[in-house]
Amino acid sequence: MTWRDFFDRDHSIYVNARHKLLHAEIVAKGVCAHIPSPDARVLDYGCGEALGARYVAARCGALCLFDTAPSVRAKLAASTVALSNVRILDEAGFDALPDASLDMIAIVSVLQYVGEAELARMFDNFRAKLKAGGLLVVGDVVPPDLSPLEDARALLDFGWRGGFLIAAVGGLARTALSDYRSLREKYGLSTYSEPEMRALLAEHGFSCDRAPANIGHNQKRMTFLARKTALDAS
Ligand SMILES: C[S@@+](CC[C@H](N)C(=O)[O-])C[C@H]1O[C@@H](n2cnc3c(N)ncnc32)[C@H](O)[C@@H]1O
Repeated sequence: MTWRDFFDRDHSIYVNARHKLLHAEIVAKGVCAHIPSPDARVLDYGCGEALGARYVAARCGALCLFDTAPSVRAKLAASTVALSNVRILDEAGFDALPDASLDMIAIVSVLQYVGEAELARMFDNFRAKLKAGGLLVVGDVVPPDLSPLEDARALLDFGWRGGFLIAAVGGLARTALSDYRSLREKYGLSTYSEPEMRALLAEHGFSCDRAPANIGHNQKRMTFLARKTALDAS
């Protein structure tokens, strides 16, 4: 099993419905904070179930939702059917997006599941699909010095503040026994320090700032705001 397969099955990274909802709210609000204009064409890449899609769709001109997991896309299709400015994309749909057609791409809490070569391809594709000066929001990037213990503590804190502490404790115990742990042992998570992410984005034609707040409940993770540089901007 790979990380992609993991997300195409029932999994328990959200400890209960309340956690999932509060998480979706944080992501939707965090993404919207960076939408450059009300008519912007936005892509959420690796969007998951995107429970906040309605909120985001109301704040941009068009919203494309891409996820690699077919089961996730099926849920998205059902939950966004009434939203006229939302499109669900599979890999062919993403490839078919015209170059220089997007104002913003957000990718939140995905990089840790992606290897080096795929990430390089992704960043090149993002650069191609963004308009000149377009914005790439890379959220919830895991730094190398963030231990699983600190991640667990941040979840418990989120659970305490969000009223799902007991479920969070149970969720951590389930995760410790789940495929998540064995996949983490087998493949690890991809992690980046701030200088590494800045260098990588520069290599792929983006100038970059670190956002003051991470999009996610753990503020030890990082969000980067990367602009497609003018140099051979298409
Ligand atoms: C932790 S979830 C994050 C979902 C959403 N972005 C959020 O922050 O709530 C990771 C998502 O990335 C997707 N994913 C996993 N591997 C991917 C890849 N190689 N390319 C794009 N998406 C991927 C999974 O299907 C899953 O929905």
